[in-house]
Amino acid sequence: MLVSPSLLAADFTDLRKDIEMLNGSEADFLHLDVMDGVFVPNISFGFPVLEPVAKICKKPLDVHLMIVEPEKWIGQVRDLGADIMNVHQEACLHLYSTVQHIHAAGMKAGVTLCPATPVSVLEDIIGEIDMVLLMSVEPGFGGQKFISRTLDKTRQLRDMIKRSASKALIEIDGGVNETTGRLLAEAGADILVAGSYVFNASDPRAAITTLKSL
Ligand code: DX5
Ligand code: ZN
Repeated sequence: MLVSPSLLAADFTDLRKDIEMLNGSEADFLHLDVMDGVFVPNISFGFPVLEPVAKICKKPLDVHLMIVEPEKWIGQVRDLGADIMNVHQEACLHLYSTVQHIHAAGMKAGVTLCPATPVSVLEDIIGEIDMVLLMSVEPGFGGQKFISRTLDKTRQLRDMIKRSASKALIEIDGGVNETTGRLLAEAGADILVAGSYVFNASDPRAAITTLKSL
């Protein structure tokens, strides 16, 4: 299993400590949750925080934009050195061209779905994208309860990917812990995002290793 710890649950008074912990861990990515207070009812952090974080982080950056009009920020996300740029399907009027612009900027394109958005909306774009990020909680806050319907959605998406010979990876975000992570592994997930489970653990590196082993 690939693991992408979410910075949202880190200690914001000492981000260097948590990023150094991640640099020395088995994490595969760093997941960065950007919120604008419009697409979601919360505001997290923006480029003034992302830029210094990107400078000291040695893991590939997995940027999750919970913002309206994410296409406006492709250049700035690219300048961070991000590996993956995730945009919400619900926030993109012209998803096909946004995906093309993300690729033209040299990044992998991820499309994110809120819990109430069916995976069928991806039928006509699944062959063009590198990742699908399924939200297993409503976006906007860490520490919420896993919505178990996500397990069925993961299986449906796995079928769609097989049928279409797409290379998209399946990433799941929200309420991930050892128990839900194991169920997601069985359902066909490739990458687990985890905030609280990692950063609230007494040994965050061991928590990452546990998820890696699923
Ligand atoms: C929620 C974010 C998540 C969040 C997950 O909007 O997209 O990445 O950090 O937090 P946990 O793992 O605590 O549910
Ligand atoms: Zn996220």
